[in-house]
Amino acid sequence: MDLIWSSGDAAPSTGLSDDDVRDAYPWPGSTSARRWVRAMMVTTLDGAAAGPDGLSGSISSSVDKAVFHAVRRLADAVLVGAGTVRAEGYGPIRAAAADVTARAEAGLAPAPVLAIVSGSLDLDFTGGLFTESTVRPIVITGAAPDPDRAALAHEHCDLVATSEPRPSAASILAILEDRGLRRVVCEGGPTLLESLVAEGLLDEADITVSPTFAGTGSTPRTSGLESVAGFELAHVLTADSFLMCRYVRAAAG
Ligand SMILES: NC(=O)c1ccc[n+]([C@@H]2O[C@H](COP(=O)([O-])OP(=O)(O)OC[C@H]3O[C@@H](n4cnc5c(N)ncnc54)[C@H](OP(=O)(O)O)[C@@H]3O)[C@@H](O)[C@H]2O)c1
Repeated sequence: MDLIWSSGDAAPSTGLSDDDVRDAYPWPGSTSARRWVRAMMVTTLDGAAAGPDGLSGSISSSVDKAVFHAVRRLADAVLVGAGTVRAEGYGPIRAAAADVTARAEAGLAPAPVLAIVSGSLDLDFTGGLFTESTVRPIVITGAAPDPDRAALAHEHCDLVATSEPRPSAASILAILEDRGLRRVVCEGGPTLLESLVAEGLLDEADITVSPTFAGTGSTPRTSGLESVAGFELAHVLTADSFLMCRYVRAAAG
């Protein structure tokens, strides 16, 4: 057992620039490298994924948000469940001018594509995330979606239906990989994350520990998994009593 830091020591700080933070969350070497799927989540000390208002922002902080945005910068796809899009009011996905250049040099599209998983297709297709994102969003749904909702969705996004009634994580990631989208950051929520973990398809878990208790009344329940998945600690950044932990799946190397 190692003592990394105690409160009697000089206060640690990330002390890192935005580019340092981006570099602290590397993607596999090149765009042709194998798929890499990371989850980006914040949790309270009592395991809540949302504050009493049902939002993750109320348990987050400026440093957590800085890490959240840094990790997006060189991603191919931002993957989210529809529950998160509805709750958090996702806006358009664009890239800063400097990142557009860096992305081009890395062989990436001008901005990450937003990929939303939704069975109901209960999404606001007139919202900015559909009308103002740099890259047309992808919506992944199950077999036999509601025809009216599907027709509406087709006008505003690339709608892809799987052959399964409810898309498996394997199908979701295969749909992205077919489009050359291998650097995937999953921003939740708990239901979608559960699918990725249950199918053993999560390579990395970037989990911020928020120094607060919120109760789990606003946190969605997920079903129990059949086994316990192991992850190894790759780094911890800290500022303002938040811990930004990067865990890599033990077998992922
Ligand atoms: N702490 C954090 O870092 C964090 C991150 C994200 C979200 N959150 C919070 O989590 C809450 C939302 O949680 P949630 O679990 O409902 O979010 P979610 O996983 O984003 O959304 C669940 C919905 O996504 C669709 N979905 C997810 N997985 C699917 C699958 N395998 N197949 C088909 N559809 C799938 C379904 O949409 P349809 O209902 O449209 O069929 C399902 O109802 C909010 O309070 C949000 O603020 C917290």
